[in-house]
Amino acid sequence: MKRIAVLASGNGSNLQALIEQLHVPNSPVEVGLVVANVASAYALTRGREAGIASFFVPHEGKGNRQAYEQRLVQLLKEHKTDFVCLAGFMRLLSSCFLSAFPNRVLNVHPSLLPSFPGIRAPEQALRAGVKLTGCTVHLVDEGMDTGPILAQAAVPVLEGDDLASLTSRIQSVEHRLYPQVARLFAEERVRRNNAHFFLDGWSL
Ligand code: GRF
Repeated sequence: MKRIAVLASGNGSNLQALIEQLHVPNSPVEVGLVVANVASAYALTRGREAGIASFFVPHEGKGNRQAYEQRLVQLLKEHKTDFVCLAGFMRLLSSCFLSAFPNRVLNVHPSLLPSFPGIRAPEQALRAGVKLTGCTVHLVDEGMDTGPILAQAAVPVLEGDDLASLTSRIQSVEHRLYPQVARLFAEERVRRNNAHFFLDGWSL
């Protein structure tokens, strides 16, 4: 049995999908810990309602990034975390954190990377006029949404879409893709071929 820690900053709908699809009997993986860096993050409520240890860990001001990340690592190790799922966690992580979980930090991003990294990806897609966008699950490195891609799913951009409709279409695919990737990752169905990673058995 593998244990995930989920790091979030906001609503936590992806956390909810991970809980509903993975935190169930006979699953190879459970959500062992939820951490938010924002006190009001609804993700904390979702974690607590599911009976999962859920903590608010405030990030410090500038210059204290290392201390913050060390606190996170300590908490995650105390909860016997095998790997980490970022779910709307609005902080970049440095090698201080990442070296404690090498190639074991996942993120879900609402675009087909490397297109539209960073914040407001669905808005960037609408502005660019692309006809396809989607979501990406990738391993996290020190860059902004630059780590090796594990899985992607495409979503059409329809005429008349606004930010709300496009975001909702992308998120409903995220909620299917991310738990599936996390389950396969827990089952160690990941292979590395030089700089690229491949996950066996995913489909949407
Ligand atoms: C998701 O769209 C995810 O791709 C991005 O942040 C959003 C978080 O949403 N990284 P939620 O908090 O999981 O509802």
